[in-house]
Amino acid sequence: MSRTIVAMPGDGIGKIVIPEAIKLLEAVGFEADYVHADIGWEFWCKEGNPLPDRTLQLLEKYKIALFGAITSKPKDKAALEIDPRLKDNGFVYYSPIVGLRQHFNLDISIRPCRSFKGNPLNFIRRGKQNDVEEPMVDAVIFRQNTEGLYSGVEWTDPPDQVYEALKTHKKFTPYTRVPKQDLAISVRIFTRQAVERILQAAFNYAKKHGYKSVTICEKPNVIRETSGMMNTMAQQIGREKFPDIAVKSTNIDAQMMWLTKNPEIYEVIVAGNMFGDIVSDGFAGLVGGLGFACSANIGEEVAIFEPTHGSAPKYAEYPVSIVNPCAMFLSSAMMLDHIGENEKAEKIRQAVAKVVGEGKIRTYDMMKLSGSPQVIQQGAATTSEMTDAVINATKEI
Ligand code: NAI
Ligand code: MG
Repeated sequence: MSRTIVAMPGDGIGKIVIPEAIKLLEAVGFEADYVHADIGWEFWCKEGNPLPDRTLQLLEKYKIALFGAITSKPKDKAALEIDPRLKDNGFVYYSPIVGLRQHFNLDISIRPCRSFKGNPLNFIRRGKQNDVEEPMVDAVIFRQNTEGLYSGVEWTDPPDQVYEALKTHKKFTPYTRVPKQDLAISVRIFTRQAVERILQAAFNYAKKHGYKSVTICEKPNVIRETSGMMNTMAQQIGREKFPDIAVKSTNIDAQMMWLTKNPEIYEVIVAGNMFGDIVSDGFAGLVGGLGFACSANIGEEVAIFEPTHGSAPKYAEYPVSIVNPCAMFLSSAMMLDHIGENEKAEKIRQAVAKVVGEGKIRTYDMMKLSGSPQVIQQGAATTSEMTDAVINATKEI
């Protein structure tokens, strides 16, 4: 049975990496129809909406999507670039990615950070004998994707009712001496239901893939209510349902230090929205960075798979593309896993591993060059050469 996948290239290099991923998906024998869906800056400028309703409808219908990247700019810049005919019509720019996560309640973000042997971008450290060690990292970060500091419940100069409510908390007393217009407040909201879903997802993943530990990466000693809720629930779920999996806890700040010392000891990591964003970027940097960092946004019905890089607009203009499509390939493999096509997913991962391991074909980021059209003369592979290499590798697996 052939499936329909919604393809949302978005802006900039999103438009480059999506077609490359589709070529690879076809090469591993994944049969699907791809329907294009509009998203991003172009549609903000033309229509005053970066996430048109017709895109939401396609997602509602087909449920599974590949997403490239979008360009996003601050509100004042957005207001300047909108079609003059739409000006003063009350359109306000918002992030279509955050919009998608909230609209479809894509509350579970998964960001696997695994090193490929032979990747020149892998983390290395000095060993005890002053030798160079290259530990293989295999951490999978589960980030709560809809709540926390990204809930959008925030004010500068809070309205009276909010201010009065805050005054009922005794820790608010010092702030009552500050003029109201000088108060900026962002609310960190965790709900038991969402915390339970992200924890369950993480524990299930650990169990299914044979990981021995789940680490909660928060800050419960300071942010007692929200981080505290996640930690307490993790202990309980671990104890009652996953007795074979160790439940560990680290503070986000300490975690960022430890990952530069011994990243190989971490397995499944769970965090709220903001800390999950931070810790997943931290680990991604140890395994190749933006050219390799893949992710999934999973809700109860809809799931969207995307590289974590942005639209890198400058690179989209080059006559021949030089960006690394591997992050998009690995995100596509996550999509295949999600719909039960695990063998094809594994084939993609093994093919990427083979090409990286052989080291003959390397995009500019893997050669540690700064990006420019000249990198091709310096021996960097183009985007499509990398795709061809990965496709060829799938045939040998
Ligand atoms: P970016 O991720 O687009 O690019 C940063 C730098 O990383 C690039 O200049 C390039 O050197 C490198 N890079 C990114 N992807 C690469 C790839 N596939 N291969 C090799 N190198 C790669 O982030 P930046 O420049 O901060 O943002 C550009 C635009 O993208 C902004 O409008 C931003 O808002 C948006 N953005 C969108 C995201 C999304 O769609 N999920 C995420 C991050 C940023
Ligand atoms: Mg990020």
